[in-house]
Amino acid sequence: MLTSKKLDYVQPSLKGTVRIPGDKSVSHRSIMFGAIAEGTTTVEGFLQSDDCLSTIDCFQKLGVDISIEGEKVTIKSDGIANWKEPDEILYTGNSGTTTRLMLGILAGSSVSSVLIGDESIQKRPMRRVTDPLKDMNAKLIGRENGQFTPIAVEGTQLQAIRYTMPVASAQVKSAILLAALNADGETIVEELETSRDHTEKMLQHFGATIAVDGKMIRLQGGQKLTGTHVVVPGDISSAAFFLVAGAIVPNSKLTLTNVGLNVTRTGIMDVLQAMGASFTVNDSENSSHEEMGTIEIETSNLVGTDIGGELIPRLIDEIPIIALLATQATGKTVIKNAEELKVKETNRIDAVVNELKKLGANITATDDGMIIEGPTLLHGGDLLTYGDHRIGMMAAVASLITTEPVTIDNAGCIAVSYPTFFEDISSVIK
Ligand code: S3P
Repeated sequence: MLTSKKLDYVQPSLKGTVRIPGDKSVSHRSIMFGAIAEGTTTVEGFLQSDDCLSTIDCFQKLGVDISIEGEKVTIKSDGIANWKEPDEILYTGNSGTTTRLMLGILAGSSVSSVLIGDESIQKRPMRRVTDPLKDMNAKLIGRENGQFTPIAVEGTQLQAIRYTMPVASAQVKSAILLAALNADGETIVEELETSRDHTEKMLQHFGATIAVDGKMIRLQGGQKLTGTHVVVPGDISSAAFFLVAGAIVPNSKLTLTNVGLNVTRTGIMDVLQAMGASFTVNDSENSSHEEMGTIEIETSNLVGTDIGGELIPRLIDEIPIIALLATQATGKTVIKNAEELKVKETNRIDAVVNELKKLGANITATDDGMIIEGPTLLHGGDLLTYGDHRIGMMAAVASLITTEPVTIDNAGCIAVSYPTFFEDISSVIK
């Protein structure tokens, strides 16, 4: 349902503390790994968002016993070999992570199933996953030779592969590694650039042996996972909206707690540093091998910067909000090597450029990113979200500094990753 929302915050300042809700990538994986494993898995800090609930729904249809009590989830499974063949289509909603990782998992399972997602998922490319899976002997059929859902999967015995990734994508890497768990032989995956490594970390946490040597990952097939306890850190991709708000809204000082600080995800901190933002970080490792900590950030004088290369996979989801940040920095910010933005929930290069232009930003789209000149005083306007949660949250943060109100066409889409976003914003407005 489209729920438009008028954001008429009048020259606020932001003060206080926000506890950042659970990481979406880690929450998905905690359910997937718990369902593959034998025994009971308990999850703490789970993100109860629409995307993560789609993952739970898929595994419940596969006969896995999953119960949710707020941020606590319990998964009881007899292991992947004992799943029930689903008598319904598995619906992955808006979630690329659910769709792509499930394809890898289901390919080596003993069940036949069909996956489908929402309108956005039905347009997102799946051959990046189905092609290497077919090289592993997977039996998959989908529109345009496996490019688009619906995709039917007949679980079968897989063979290990050696695969050099053509794109920097943790979803592709993870789909192959999860398939490799149930394949004959040793799979070797070579990355172009290091992408988020939650899958590698969680495999170890569930008792698997995996060797990571720079950009090369080796995993022996036939390993069993054992149920365990998972602590999900807060999502730095959600914290990003408050980091930027804290830096650009006048007279602000925010403390963000429970923030996941896995180094494969902290590109935005590097950008804030390069732009001259004023912040401090305190971090430590949690019991599930993930770094987490507290960040304090305050209103800052910012300068433009260049963003590209190996930094891109470390901040790919943060680019919409970084673009807004750049509109408030003095000078030019160039974002390049980010063509992957075109195949996210929407084409995020076009969406960011179109919507920030409506507010008066000096921003130009390029083939692989965008160029922003700042600082610009932004005015209000009617913005589109394109059904994309991160465009919706970018617009909401922009509205904190605009001279007139901003209206967004669909506030509901934000529940995909951050259902309590507006409550958390309201709690720090002074
Ligand atoms: C994710 C990987 C990234 C990211 C997405 C979550 C994951 O996608 O954009 O939001 O959980 O593995 P790609 O693998 O397509 O880069």
